[in-house]
Amino acid sequence: LLLEASNNGGGGSKLEEKEDPHIKRSDFPPGFFFGASTSSYQIEGAYLADAKSLSNWDVFCHSAEGCGGHGENGDIADDHYHRFLKDIEMMHSLGLKAYRFSISWARILPSGRCGEVNPAGIKFYNKIIDNLILKGIEPFVTLFHNEFPQVLEEKHGSWLHPEMKEEFVHFAEICFKSFGDRVKHWITINEPNIFTQFAYELGLFPPSRCSEPVGDCVAGNSDVEPLIVMHNLLLAHGKAAKLYHQHFQPKQGGSIGLVMHCLMNEPLTDSDLDRKAARRALAFNIGWSLDPIIFGEYPKVMREYLGTKLPCFTADEKKFLKNSTDFIGINHYTTAYTKDCSTNSSCPPTANRAIRGFLEMVGERDGVPIGEPTKVKGLTVVPRGMGEIVNYLKIRYHNKPMFITENGYSSPDVHGRGIKELVNDVKRVKFHEAYLASLAKSIREGADVRGYFVWSLMDNYEWLQGYDVKFGLFYVDRRTLTRVPKLSAKWYKNFLKNNSDVI
Ligand code: NOJ
Repeated sequence: LLLEASNNGGGGSKLEEKEDPHIKRSDFPPGFFFGASTSSYQIEGAYLADAKSLSNWDVFCHSAEGCGGHGENGDIADDHYHRFLKDIEMMHSLGLKAYRFSISWARILPSGRCGEVNPAGIKFYNKIIDNLILKGIEPFVTLFHNEFPQVLEEKHGSWLHPEMKEEFVHFAEICFKSFGDRVKHWITINEPNIFTQFAYELGLFPPSRCSEPVGDCVAGNSDVEPLIVMHNLLLAHGKAAKLYHQHFQPKQGGSIGLVMHCLMNEPLTDSDLDRKAARRALAFNIGWSLDPIIFGEYPKVMREYLGTKLPCFTADEKKFLKNSTDFIGINHYTTAYTKDCSTNSSCPPTANRAIRGFLEMVGERDGVPIGEPTKVKGLTVVPRGMGEIVNYLKIRYHNKPMFITENGYSSPDVHGRGIKELVNDVKRVKFHEAYLASLAKSIREGADVRGYFVWSLMDNYEWLQGYDVKFGLFYVDRRTLTRVPKLSAKWYKNFLKNNSDVI
């Protein structure tokens, strides 16, 4: 049936030509969490409801530039705020065992730590958590997923200021107190590496800071600011984790971790320089956050390359950062070839920056693309990368428990397509099968991976592109907001029942 569906409009792709991996639920351990992920700004809407304050993204999207120019925003998004019961029913209908979502900081603490807790915010997330549990779905909760009360931006200049970590720890404490009796998997921060790069280097996320003006970005010092912001984020994670480990975990018995955007890097050529560049890319992108919260220090290669630009941790900070994560959350989508730029004069000037490790990531070798393109530039389909990144993390971090907190596909061809074609997402099914097959292999080889979450449960607001990027298992009609299961939703449901066919 899969083949039939693919002939009916999926379009021929290299992925489809490959042998069907026939991945099955039983290829994974019995207690493995299969779920789907979302985040508050991307699905909730109701941006002014029930005493919520404006978040940094509300303000950014209402500015003249309008979220960087595409003109769409999350004001209504998927209206999950009013439709969450049906959405949970939808998850249940697929047989999901876990759901990862984020808590909107501005709903819980509209004025930050100097103001009151908003009871309506607590009530909303209590209802979500209770209903998930009622349906046998494990909540995985992210505390910071790109979004925080705008008032903190105005008051502190947000994450450039060390005070922001105190704000975060206060927010985290309220969440642990309010929801920790039922939430057993906490994620402090989603993709700190992407947040720092996009908000303080490329000027694409609020507060739009960069040093080379693109669009409306604010002049900053993009050689140093991302390093300061990451430093503050890591300390915020460490402090919140310490609080959780000391005061909540003993009674509540859950775990706490951090989620990274984990791109895999392969060397462009066999040369020693490119091999080293690929290792360096992984250290600069992933080790930058994970080394401090596991080993208590930034990667050696970053310290060598960045010298005094890299902030340092005090002895006390190192102590509380070390082992402050119980698991590693992996958002994995793609793999890039990596080229050394420490000596190579053919690299573009931007690649020669210390903050990125003097390297360039490229999408093809000898004119052959590394994988099929998707709707999001740079997110190419390379299933083998899933196993490679898991093995890399397994070795570097001594097989610390891992969760694939996001993995997903958004098709490049959405324009001019009607609902019938959009829900016939054969390529998404093939994507998940291929990535899961690669993951299963690394688990068989000993990697301690405990869960897999599809990004995303339903089509939603994508930060830089708006609603044209569609990662969902469910299609969302933008006019009526009706959810329609795609072929991939049916496939996931059957996969979870251990059937490998689609219907
Ligand atoms: C990772 C982010 O966590 C999520 O918010 C985003 O929508 C997906 N990547 C897809 O770009």
